[in-house]
Amino acid sequence: MVHIMHGTHTAKQSLRGDRTQRLLAWYDIHRRDLPWRAKPGEAADPYRVWLSEIMLQQTTVQAVAAYYRKFITRWPTVKALAAAPLDDVLAAWAGLGYYARARNLHKAAKIVAEELGGRFPSTAEELRKLPGIGAYTSGAIAAIAFGASEAAMDANAERVIARLFAVEEALPGAKPKLLSLGKSLVPERRAGDFAQALMDLGSGPCSVKRPSCGSCPWADDCQAYKRGIVERLPLKAPKPARPLLRGAAFVARDSAGAVLLVKRPEKGLLGSMLQPPLGPWSENFPAAQDALGQAPFHAGWKKRAGIVRHGFTHFELEIEVYATEVAKRPRVEGTWTLDLENAALPTIMRKIVAHAYDDNGPLFRQAKSARKR
Ligand code: ADE
Repeated sequence: MVHIMHGTHTAKQSLRGDRTQRLLAWYDIHRRDLPWRAKPGEAADPYRVWLSEIMLQQTTVQAVAAYYRKFITRWPTVKALAAAPLDDVLAAWAGLGYYARARNLHKAAKIVAEELGGRFPSTAEELRKLPGIGAYTSGAIAAIAFGASEAAMDANAERVIARLFAVEEALPGAKPKLLSLGKSLVPERRAGDFAQALMDLGSGPCSVKRPSCGSCPWADDCQAYKRGIVERLPLKAPKPARPLLRGAAFVARDSAGAVLLVKRPEKGLLGSMLQPPLGPWSENFPAAQDALGQAPFHAGWKKRAGIVRHGFTHFELEIEVYATEVAKRPRVEGTWTLDLENAALPTIMRKIVAHAYDDNGPLFRQAKSARKR
């Protein structure tokens, strides 16, 4: 005897299944070809998935691609990365931002290589114990590298889900709700493709500013679309204003073109990265006379016109740049560096060095922010 099931529960479940299948079918046709993605039918390499997910945490796909290729070429396995000196990893990371990620990357590589026999854990729960891996990243790696039925809710996925269900609660408060709605759609099979499909939907048809609902596989049952509020979602709580800090930088160059760089403290902002000597930061720029007292040595420091600006997560920084050329290197703390391109110089520090010598043309191939949002 055949039982025909009626009732809302079953109908709801099959609606969910339908949605998921529609997204997967869309993904099979429209998936982005990204350097870290396994080709259809190819097994994912957990090392590559992990490396890319760490890089993509706060950085755009576009900015990550070149760095990802550089890392994979130089350190093709987690063991190779674990064996590298931290300073080499930081230098290779320079320009990607959020440098704690690079320090944690190296720490996690050592744990996997030295304590776990070179194998990444395969569950979200175990992955989360590694440095640098939080709720989002553990879900993404477990799903993409190991096929675990986990959600990976990054900002793109949150936006798609907020629109699909017309969630009108503002972020970040809405996160738990979006996570549970997102989880309800994750399939048993192809969870990794589902996670990546959500990302591709979010960066394509369901983009922040110009959603193109005509090419969205979910338009038919998208609640925000139905109500005409797609562009308004997700709502975001206003962010507190970022304070503005100001200071002076001292860029010294010798006759060969080497620049004096010092290493930042291991802990805190831009930890262990290099910079030209900088004075303290406060509400105001130091007066020229005070600035000279902050300089690393006595010389004919010339203040450059203009300022260098950089936005950090919790504050804005404005720097006035003092420059000098020395015939002979004074004996001061730091390293005189010629190969600035490959030094562990964060973007703000590249901008400062470039600002000191911008009469000589571009010193760097890129000194552009890679931050998401
Ligand atoms: N953002 C975070 N992870 C991603 C991935 N695997 N593909 C594309 N965008 C991403």
